[in-house]
Amino acid sequence: MNDTKKRVKKFVKKEPELKIEIAEVFRPLLSEARRIKFYYGGRGGGKSYAFADSLLLLGRQKKLFIACLREIQDSIKDSVYKLLCDRISAWGLNDYKIFENKIENTVTKTRFVFKGLRDQDVNNIKSLEGVDIAWIEEAQTITRKSWNILNPTIRKDGSEIWISMNREEENDPLWVLVGSKPDERTLVCKVNYCDNPFCPEELKLQAEKCRRENPEDYKHIWLGEPIRQGDYKLISSVSVRNAFVSKILSSTSPLVVGLDIARFGDDQTSFCFRRGRWCMRFESYRKLDNVEVANLATNIIRSQKPHRLFMDVGGQGAGVYDILKDRGFGEIIRGVYFGEKALNEERYSNRRAEMWDEVRQWLSSKPEVQLPADEELLDDLTSVNKKYDRRGRLQLEEKDEVKKRLGRSPDKGDALALTFAEPVYDDGEPQIYGNGRLTYEDLFNNTAKRSNEW
Ligand SMILES: Nc1ncnc2c1ncn2[C@@H]1O[C@H](COP(=O)(O)OP(=O)(O)OP(=O)(O)O)[C@@H](O)[C@H]1O
Ligand SMILES: [Mg+2]
Repeated sequence: MNDTKKRVKKFVKKEPELKIEIAEVFRPLLSEARRIKFYYGGRGGGKSYAFADSLLLLGRQKKLFIACLREIQDSIKDSVYKLLCDRISAWGLNDYKIFENKIENTVTKTRFVFKGLRDQDVNNIKSLEGVDIAWIEEAQTITRKSWNILNPTIRKDGSEIWISMNREEENDPLWVLVGSKPDERTLVCKVNYCDNPFCPEELKLQAEKCRRENPEDYKHIWLGEPIRQGDYKLISSVSVRNAFVSKILSSTSPLVVGLDIARFGDDQTSFCFRRGRWCMRFESYRKLDNVEVANLATNIIRSQKPHRLFMDVGGQGAGVYDILKDRGFGEIIRGVYFGEKALNEERYSNRRAEMWDEVRQWLSSKPEVQLPADEELLDDLTSVNKKYDRRGRLQLEEKDEVKKRLGRSPDKGDALALTFAEPVYDDGEPQIYGNGRLTYEDLFNNTAKRSNEW
């Protein structure tokens, strides 16, 4: 035995008996053998702490390979790594050694790794085949696709999948697939802050205030009930997250740009770039004047040659539209008033409702569509509630209401919706006239050169 090993062994032996307390509801984590342990509920229920403590305890008893998983993990900071480190330090577990991206027990050789499921492809998911316990945190964000890859990967005899979730919507995929219809190998347990003996006073006060002032929010945030989205949300977070996952790498569909122009200081001016099923990216800016927005749009039209650039011309947008028209881009740009009557007046109370509903339909269409994985965009798209007017037509709630809830305007959501203002057909590359590039006559002349830039 080398010196370090001797020292570790001596130290661990001398350590006083640890008394890690696990609340009663979480005891089955340690004492029951089940394939799936599914805990769900509202904020402050003690799920994360109990999962972390239980795994650290088990990892001291024998060698385990533990994978801490979530849907998206751009950096280890997004994971439960920090929580585990804090718990190791709170309990003084000196037998755990913390590395940059893993945690190991120096005695039992238990190993914790941290991964985002969205980034796993068929090849590197194989590295998880030897996992003893997989902990899926924030499981409300897990897509059906990720689950269907993960479940058969965790295949070691006796392996377990631990799931902690704050319900988001009625149809959260893991709730539908696992929590709502448990078999005998699945433990499902609801825990709320009132079940957590360690719940800080501060959280209890916040919960109590919310119960008095906003019973609907209280049920969702503190009692873990899903938002009844069928009732009022236009776009479900499940459909948006599904679009974050797919990987379309190229498209020959025509480029369409949506431009939502900020009206007030805090809002952003956002450009959205979409080719058919593939929404490639957003570009957002703050505090631009009309000429600056027009210059950005001019550069985009010239360099990327969109088929159409749809822009919101309510408020400040009208000035930008005039500048672009004056520069000779009248064939490319189209102004849209969110409040104007819909193209399909029978179904929609105005243009805004029509365009947003196009986004909803696009997100649930097949084959899959793709959005850049962007939490701000997710918040935008799921912030808009629907209602119906007296003629039974779809209407969206007022923008001010959305703003109150979101704390800002859903600028990226509006920019994406604008790309659906009118159908755009793939009839070849756009040609630009004005400013000496092409004459109006050239535009209708087939000899004009086609660009291959995009
Ligand atoms: N074993 C414990 N020892 C000390 N404090 C604890 C313990 N378990 C939970 N807590 C306290 O309760 C709080 C809520 O616990 P935790 O964060 O695990 O809840 P959760 O169910 O994961 O909910 P959330 O959605 O808020 O993360 C923690 O911030 C911590 O203050
Ligand atoms: Mg938690």
